[in-house]
Amino acid sequence: MEKNLVIGASGQLGIELILGLQKRFGIDSVVASDIKKCDDELVNRSEFILLDATDTNSVRKVIFECGCTTVYHLVAMLSAKGEENPKAAWDLNMKSLINVLDCAKDGIIEKVFWPSSIAVFGPNAPKNRTPQETFCEPTTIYGVSKVAGEMWCNYYHDKYGVDVRSLRYPGLIGHRSMPGGGTTDYAVEAFYKAINGEKFECYLDIHEALPMMHMEDAVRSTLELMAAPAEIIKLRTSYNLSGCSFSPGELNDEIAKFYPDFVTKYSPDQRQKIAASWPNSIDDSRAREEWNWKPEYGTKELVESMLNALSN
Ligand SMILES: NC(=O)c1ccc[n+]([C@@H]2O[C@H](COP(=O)([O-])OP(=O)(O)OC[C@H]3O[C@@H](n4cnc5c(N)ncnc54)[C@H](O)[C@@H]3O)[C@@H](O)[C@H]2O)c1
Repeated sequence: MEKNLVIGASGQLGIELILGLQKRFGIDSVVASDIKKCDDELVNRSEFILLDATDTNSVRKVIFECGCTTVYHLVAMLSAKGEENPKAAWDLNMKSLINVLDCAKDGIIEKVFWPSSIAVFGPNAPKNRTPQETFCEPTTIYGVSKVAGEMWCNYYHDKYGVDVRSLRYPGLIGHRSMPGGGTTDYAVEAFYKAINGEKFECYLDIHEALPMMHMEDAVRSTLELMAAPAEIIKLRTSYNLSGCSFSPGELNDEIAKFYPDFVTKYSPDQRQKIAASWPNSIDDSRAREEWNWKPEYGTKELVESMLNALSN
């Protein structure tokens, strides 16, 4: 039986991924772990184990004792938070990943999922339909840690045969959980403000288009990648992944179709500089060709789904 351990389970993605895994494999096939427990009742139907992913011995002990076959390792300090404390971001992002990869190398687990990000690209990469292979010269420590993480994954696959798989997620947007300190967080906040009839102050420029993805597409892409036979996964760094793309101004206009009084005020701060270094949109043709990836949510569908879910 497939048994899945999610590390970093109480974060924005972890909560939604746990629900996706419960649905696909059953509640008892999932174990959640994090340095803090979340308060989502549905998530908490599965076992929870308190774990600091930087503690090598504890990671090994938990992975061994829970008898899991697959680890989804989601722990990271995200882009905006990482710029406030670059050394801590590097330590957390790298050490926790290597702890998990070592368990796979030693045969304690069969498969690893680790997310990368569009933050691997920097100002020198083409902005539109950014290709899979291009300049990866990020200007944030978060991006630097994701490029290095991709290389570690590829190294462990080549050298030790570790079955590690990865996706470069765009900004993720879901209604069950709040974002954890990234540059694309503004979009989730905009929906809450619209629903509550409040004014929204956006920290990005009105025209700053970024790649985004509905959480359902993100979870489905992850489960599909992990279910694919090992031999069709050609990239062991990380796959480009695309959902939709919009700027804060375009998001405002889509939301205003449902909430005509919704108004965004634009007050760009230091996060605008991070966003300006990232792509506007992503070419994910390798994922489409190699394991049949296809997103379901465009901007219109994403906005409608978020507003419906939150107003309910
Ligand atoms: N959310 C996005 O838009 C997005 C986009 C691209 C990539 N990603 C990647 O997806 C992954 C998950 O992102 P997220 O948005 O859910 O992040 P998040 O910040 O919401 O969640 C991270 C979780 O890790 C936990 N954590 C932190 N330090 C820990 C430690 N030492 N031991 C155990 N747990 C610890 C936190 O408590 C938190 O619950 C990350 O690797 C991130 O880089 C996310």
